[in-house]
Amino acid sequence: MRILVWFLIPLLLCSTENETESFITDYEYGEMLYSNPRGVSCAECHGDSGQGKSIVHYQDIHGNQELRGSDIRTSTLAQMIAALNGYHEIMPRYYLTDDEVEAMYKYLQKKYKKI
Ligand code: HEC
Repeated sequence: MRILVWFLIPLLLCSTENETESFITDYEYGEMLYSNPRGVSCAECHGDSGQGKSIVHYQDIHGNQELRGSDIRTSTLAQMIAALNGYHEIMPRYYLTDDEVEAMYKYLQKKYKKI
């Protein structure tokens, strides 16, 4: 019986280690953040892969206008951090950490290259 316990303990330790590794990948973490950071999805304005998206069409004295979320696929990490830490007329302020922005940045880079 005792021998069986000593045999099982290392097995148990090994299996929990593997679980933390495969919990979620960096890609999934970035995707999760991008699609639902603080409740307002970046994808609503910048599209699924950061390619930009039309937010609204309207008319003013100059005629038909379109409000678009910009294409952020070629933004650098430094530009993304700067943009997310600034105030914008349309884009909400998120208060994300640099690590969170980096996770989203890497996700967008990977996703963009696959298209
Ligand atoms: C409500 C729409 C909206 C949402 C949601 C939104 N953005 Fe934006 N974002 C914009 C618009 C519009 C601009 C460009 C004009 C401006 O500066 O306000 C912009 C600019 C940016 C820029 C700067 C790119 C440039 O054109 O220089 C980055 C980077 C960016 N957004 C990333 C994000 C990320 C990442 C998220 C999610 C955490 C997000 N945005 C959520 C509308 C949005």
